[in-house]
Amino acid sequence: MTQLPGLPTAPGRLLDEAIRKDFPILDRVIHDGKKLVYLDSAATSQKPRQVLDALSEYYEQHNANVHRGVYTIAEEATALYEGARDKVAAFINAPSRDEVIFTKNASESLNLVANMLGWADEPYRVDHETEIVTTEMEHHSNIVPWQLLAQRTGAKLKWFGITDDGRLDLSNIDEIITEKTKIVSFVLVSNILGTQNPVETIVRRAQEVGALVCIDASQAAPHQVLDVQALQADFVAFTGHKMVGPTGIGVLWGRQELLEDLPPFLGGGEMIETVSMHSSTYAPAPHKFEAGTPPIAQAVGLGAAVDYLSAIGMERIAAHEHAITEYAVKRLLEVPDLRIIGPETAEDRGATISFTLGDIHPHDVGQVLDEQGIAVRVGHHCARPVCLRYGIPATTRASFYLYSTPAEVDALVEGLEHVRNFFG
Ligand code: ALA
Repeated sequence: MTQLPGLPTAPGRLLDEAIRKDFPILDRVIHDGKKLVYLDSAATSQKPRQVLDALSEYYEQHNANVHRGVYTIAEEATALYEGARDKVAAFINAPSRDEVIFTKNASESLNLVANMLGWADEPYRVDHETEIVTTEMEHHSNIVPWQLLAQRTGAKLKWFGITDDGRLDLSNIDEIITEKTKIVSFVLVSNILGTQNPVETIVRRAQEVGALVCIDASQAAPHQVLDVQALQADFVAFTGHKMVGPTGIGVLWGRQELLEDLPPFLGGGEMIETVSMHSSTYAPAPHKFEAGTPPIAQAVGLGAAVDYLSAIGMERIAAHEHAITEYAVKRLLEVPDLRIIGPETAEDRGATISFTLGDIHPHDVGQVLDEQGIAVRVGHHCARPVCLRYGIPATTRASFYLYSTPAEVDALVEGLEHVRNFFG
């Protein structure tokens, strides 16, 4: 039984710390013998040995281009790449493997949706009479593609604001999402505030007006059960490197009939059926949206990541992170002058906590923490409108994952005491 200091006994909520042995980097010692305390998993997660081994084995034994070769290792590479698609489809409960498109990252997935709609005919066409809805708590990757689409088509961009306590303000939902709305695109778990958004309420309203729904699940897929059928969205985007997989691989899940109807964005090899000098016809989805040589090794690594997370169990990972978050919120609120930017609770939030510390600039906080071996992210976290909303230039952000421990929360709190002493 694992007990968190200062909290009621929570049998079985924390994962066994033995899993840290799977992550070689967690043994790193930096700065005069200080052990690495890695609290930046919202930026990118660390990778377990199982994923690193899958990557080397792919390159050492099977490396070849996919969907092209008739020789043995090319067939093996194709089977591994397409096998990774099967694993991801099962992981997100997709009705069909053909609904899983591999991209470079979540940003590319979201840009792909915006561009599919940007080139679409009726009934999906976005023009000056239509509206696009997003929120003020998005990562830039779920703002800028929609701004570009709005600029190109004349569509109006609207957004939900944020409440003082870091939740989406849905009080005017019927005015924001209207009969003119073509697409509502929002984040499931905020990368800066940690807020978990009420999907059902937003999806219900979008469905009432016949708008499409796109969900940025980048900060959800690594941490909780992600069931695309339960979400009832039309598109769901996420990235591999935040869920113990490699960089360079992202996913866009889309409903099959939409993927059949909507036009491709990138043209080239792999995505065609036939090509003449006058015109081309396209391969069925997902290949229609995967022009060129895809990120093969990265997909194989993502497949291994999905196997790793599934073997532990997403419910157990979520329970672990909830316990760590509960403890971290409680401990951080004990630090004088510390203000959490976002929900001051562990409920309906992810394991990412942003804060300010008096007048000390977050870059200074980050630097003094780094001297103690503690890695946090500082800045606007690619979500600058959130900082503008709260009238702050930046935050310090600690984000936790399945390998985070209560001792690391304690190290952060101690580190912040050093920061306060250092800056008087
Ligand atoms: N999107 C990543 C983050 O929030 C990079 O840190």
